[in-house]
Amino acid sequence: MAPVITVDNLTRRFGETVAVNELSLVVEAGEVFGFLGHNGAGKTTTVRLLNGVLLTDSGTIQVLGHSPLTDGPAVRARTGVLTETPSLEERLTARENLAYYAALYDIPSSEVNPRINTVLETFDLSERADEKAGGYSKGMKQRLALARALFHQPELLFLDEPTASLDPVASRQVHEIITHLSQDEGRTVFLCTHNLDEAQRLCDRVAVMEHGRLLALGTPAELGAQLGGRARLEIEVAPGDTPQAADLLRSAGATEVRVEHDTLHVAGIHREAVPGILAALVAAGVAVYRLNPVEPSLEDIYFALHDNAEREGIA
Ligand SMILES: Nc1ncnc2c1ncn2[C@@H]1O[C@H](COP(=O)(O)OP(=O)(O)O)[C@@H](O)[C@H]1O
Ligand SMILES: [Mg+2]
Repeated sequence: MAPVITVDNLTRRFGETVAVNELSLVVEAGEVFGFLGHNGAGKTTTVRLLNGVLLTDSGTIQVLGHSPLTDGPAVRARTGVLTETPSLEERLTARENLAYYAALYDIPSSEVNPRINTVLETFDLSERADEKAGGYSKGMKQRLALARALFHQPELLFLDEPTASLDPVASRQVHEIITHLSQDEGRTVFLCTHNLDEAQRLCDRVAVMEHGRLLALGTPAELGAQLGGRARLEIEVAPGDTPQAADLLRSAGATEVRVEHDTLHVAGIHREAVPGILAALVAAGVAVYRLNPVEPSLEDIYFALHDNAEREGIA
């Protein structure tokens, strides 16, 4: 299957600022693609370029077989965008908001009401569908905005920081919706986020952006492997044995040892050194209850990449 998005050497400037800097990437059909980076990394600009609402300075883009630059309407007919701060008609009900949107998208009138009922159900808004949206919680507003972005059944969905202003419960509901859209409905999702945990949980692959540049691209596991096999360990020992264990780990080369209750959180130990360290702990009389290797989190990866970029003078 042809890629859903192909970006080649894309650059976009705003005056002196290079918001997107020689970006190349490919998004495959059906994946949840994470676009990661903190404020100003170029995420929103990229989404706007991909949807043809902003002109490129150089480079090429193909989205669903079209160039957004010359064929914007054809692209936008098949994409849905949840913008960073979606604006709803607060004085209209959820049902009216969706009907209004349906009219903009030329959805056949016989389909409008059944489809409204279906999405209200999917997004858990049925019970309050006839109340004005202005009175909804943030989570409900975001679900309504998502319902609207999906109403014309786009194959490709752009979500720009969909949980940035939500509490954990509302965030989880949005996460469940994203998983449902991807796994059950086969839609491709381009997810902009600065929430590393969210990316780790939801994304098949992630692109890490920094000041408009792509720092790394791959599955969370592939990016983790770039950290060079430095393991993180959790070691639970008998109460009272933590100081001795911590000393031993530091002298074995751990770069970080943090003690939390009876558990040591250890960083910087090479995987090959783990059996030797366990033997040394036991030989020293430390009672080891649990030793757990911890996969590098996207957070570890992100900070490692960020440090490298800083060293190389990119950041
Ligand atoms: N319309 C604009 N005019 C001027 N500068 C802009 C505009 N949009 C974005 N920028 C700048 O481009 C850079 C990238 O912004 P943006 O794409 O919004 O990043 P992100 O979404 O990752 O936070 C920032 O330095 C931002 O200030
Ligand atoms: Mg943004």
